[in-house]
Amino acid sequence: MKILMVCLGNICRSPLAEGILKAKLKEKNLNWQVDSAGTSSWHINSLPDSRSIAIAQKNGIDITDQRARQFKTSDLEDFDLILAMDADNYNTILDKASKEQAYKVKMILNYSYPNENRRVPDPYYNDGFEQVYQLLDAACDQIIKFHHA
Ligand code: 4NP
Repeated sequence: MKILMVCLGNICRSPLAEGILKAKLKEKNLNWQVDSAGTSSWHINSLPDSRSIAIAQKNGIDITDQRARQFKTSDLEDFDLILAMDADNYNTILDKASKEQAYKVKMILNYSYPNENRRVPDPYYNDGFEQVYQLLDAACDQIIKFHHA
């Protein structure tokens, strides 16, 4: 299983999603591949936001090996599942997807809140990192349950 987490900047939400899922997979000895990307080019090669690094660290997860990259159309071929943090990211990705690829693209919180199309709130300007962490932690548990039945 190859999973790509996608947000806008690839410095706040999707690096946390990547780090949290990787930590859970390691615990379960599951050998899936996980990566993350942003739909924007704004932070290419940047470290995750210091607030994401801090909340991850507080939970025993190191995400300082990550560097931001931009989502590219070929990701739709390379990954089995592309998980968007909000509807803007979702629509940007879907615009680039063929009909056959569209089924791979999902809103990540639909794993924990099925069919509700809830967004992971963008914490960049308003500091909701604790809530973002909790939302992603719960979603990642469900991702593993759903795909590892
Ligand atoms: P992310 O958060 O999409 O979760 O990485 C953001 C990071 C940067 C910006 C917006 C959202 N920005 O406007 O630069």
